Amino acid sequence: MEQTFIMIKPDGVQRGLIGEIISRFEKKGFSLKGLKLISVERPFAEKHYEDLSAKPFFNGLVDYIISGPVVAMVWEGKNVVTTGRKIIGATNPAQSEPGTIRGDFAIDIGRNVIHGSDSVESANKEIALWFPEGPVAWQSCAHKWIYE
Ligand code: PPS
Repeated sequence: MEQTFIMIKPDGVQRGLIGEIISRFEKKGFSLKGLKLISVERPFAEKHYEDLSAKPFFNGLVDYIISGPVVAMVWEGKNVVTTGRKIIGATNPAQSEPGTIRGDFAIDIGRNVIHGSDSVESANKEIALWFPEGPVAWQSCAHKWIYE
């Protein structure tokens, strides 16, 4: 089953949005396979965002991610990468639809509350970086009520 990496960024943690965000993924039917509240150092954040290192906003983005603890998660389910990105909403909250996490809770792109992997390949890479111990192996008893 497909997995994705989801991170509640420092602003989402500080604003008390952890429960709200977890709830949206849970209510959809996705399964939580990894969860940690963690502060990361600059080299780790730079590694996570290494594909963006040439972007003018790179240093600001890294400063933002290391500014406080983040919630790192692995979520699992059919099409969870694409559907997770829909639940999150467009990168720039100015373009995020109401009903999405960014559409409901964010205004500035540099404080957009949450990260979600943009492809299965990125998800596998990010899960390996953030969860070197591996996700938790378990299956919800609701599984047969979610999938036909
Ligand atoms: S890009 O330029 O198309 O590669 O960027 P994009 O895919 O839209 O976004 C990748 C991540 O960069 C963050 N981002 C920014 N942060 C701060 N300031 C500005 N201007 C900015 N533009 C993009 C964006 O939130 C994405 O972060 P994650 O954590 O992956 O969602």
